[in-house]
Amino acid sequence: MAGYGLCVAKAQYPIAEMIDLLRKKGKNVRFGIHPVAGRMPGQLNVLLAEAGVPYDLVLEMDEINEDFPDTDLTLVIGANDTVNSAAEDDPNSIIAGMPVLRVWNSANVIVMKRSLGVGYAAVDNPIFYKENTNMLLGDAKKTCDALLSKCQDHYSGH
Ligand code: TAP
Repeated sequence: MAGYGLCVAKAQYPIAEMIDLLRKKGKNVRFGIHPVAGRMPGQLNVLLAEAGVPYDLVLEMDEINEDFPDTDLTLVIGANDTVNSAAEDDPNSIIAGMPVLRVWNSANVIVMKRSLGVGYAAVDNPIFYKENTNMLLGDAKKTCDALLSKCQDHYSGH
């Protein structure tokens, strides 16, 4: 799951490389892109394509939302409003009723952003505090570079 923070950080390059590595190791990896992720229509799709992520791995919200209960791990990279469970759970939220990616239904969630701060809609996100969520705080480029490096070490037996 990728959002505006991925664009700001330019984290698409290490992520594209990590996806390539994981797929070569037989893992099923997909991207979910919310229709309003980022600040312009199609912003994330363009950046991922530019970094070499194959189009058929990049799915729209409606194509991937049913798959989260069968997903081992979801990485939320620089996204916030588009994965906010309050949209479904809190009728008083300013984003109540907005369709969101239900990332919290996957077994494990790692949210990668710099702080516990809010996104564009300036609304708190309860998924940060759910039991199956871990927060990986830091600039998305740095954390994605670190994850890529760990994956490379792991698969090369270091
Ligand atoms: P947002 O809800 O805006 O969340 C993006 C998150 O990225 C922020 O909470 C921020 O958290 C994090 N971030 C910023 N820089 C980062 C960095 N360098 N490294 C890591 N994380 C970083 O984004 P979204 O989920 O993509 O949702 C888009 C929002 O923009 C929606 O509310 C949508 O309505 C709105 N919007 C969309 C459009 C179009 S057409 N797509 C147009 C205008 C507005 P930290 O500060 O904690 O890092």
